[in-house]
Amino acid sequence: MVFAAPVSVRTLRLGLGPTVSEDGEDKKFDLQFEEDIGESIARHIWDAGVVTSAYLADASDTIHNIFPIENDTFNILELGSGVGILGITIAGILSRATTTPQGQALKNARVLLTDLEEAEERARSNNPPRPKLHSTLNRVDGTNVAIEYENLDWGEGCKGRFGPLTAATTWDLVVLSDCTYNVDSLPALVGTLSALHAAKGHHCAAGDAPIKSSVLLATKPRHSSEEALFGLLKEHDWTYRVVKEIPLPKIGEEDEVVQIYLLEKSGRVT
Ligand SMILES: C[S@@+](CC[C@H](N)C(=O)[O-])C[C@H]1O[C@@H](n2cnc3c(N)ncnc32)[C@H](O)[C@@H]1O
Repeated sequence: MVFAAPVSVRTLRLGLGPTVSEDGEDKKFDLQFEEDIGESIARHIWDAGVVTSAYLADASDTIHNIFPIENDTFNILELGSGVGILGITIAGILSRATTTPQGQALKNARVLLTDLEEAEERARSNNPPRPKLHSTLNRVDGTNVAIEYENLDWGEGCKGRFGPLTAATTWDLVVLSDCTYNVDSLPALVGTLSALHAAKGHHCAAGDAPIKSSVLLATKPRHSSEEALFGLLKEHDWTYRVVKEIPLPKIGEEDEVVQIYLLEKSGRVT
């Protein structure tokens, strides 16, 4: 007999700006996520994912200041997506009309969630998002957003071995939340970021402008050993800066903080 894992559903009410904008549009939106009850790293929602999703939704009107949106298409790859909270929230934000800094409308966006096989079932059960993004997808000025899932183990990714969906696209932004707590997996994780950067070069010709990769990395530091991440990033020629620090006050315990970093790496194809 097969027993399904007990599941709970969390609703995130996103967008803290004024409820209704000057043109009468409701600025808030809800997204619901299934997560397993009980012990599971991959099938559970983590704090940095929730906090970063809320931060980005609040900033949705100025999201192009945070995301490197330059054209009318934008492709996002999420590493260690778990149940998909961050990537699916970003899809919800992008499905609302977004313009590039040049004032051009964003027409198409793609979000690819990736994780270990054990995450797949729950991530897929959260896609399509609930409620569906159809109300925004149907808007004439909204962005058409596709959300997909593919397994990606950093042990393979760091060797440049990617599944067909990951390999087929040039990713404008890689995002990840709460994936840097296990120091043992940091070399494979940073190696995967660098391999994704190198893969971008495969889509370019010698003499093209330098390739640039951007990564939004959110973390709730738990232990000083996690700082090994920054040494590895330097070794791999990634620059990093804090975009936002969001305190998480705790009653009766030491306060925590979620830090959101922007990592960048440039290089010329020779
Ligand atoms: C703490 S969870 C965070 C999940 C999600 N990003 C969130 O914020 O809710 C860390 C995630 O990293 C994934 N992960 C750990 N090691 C991995 C590896 N070697 N390759 C791919 N994903 C991995 C786990 O399966 C898990 O989903």
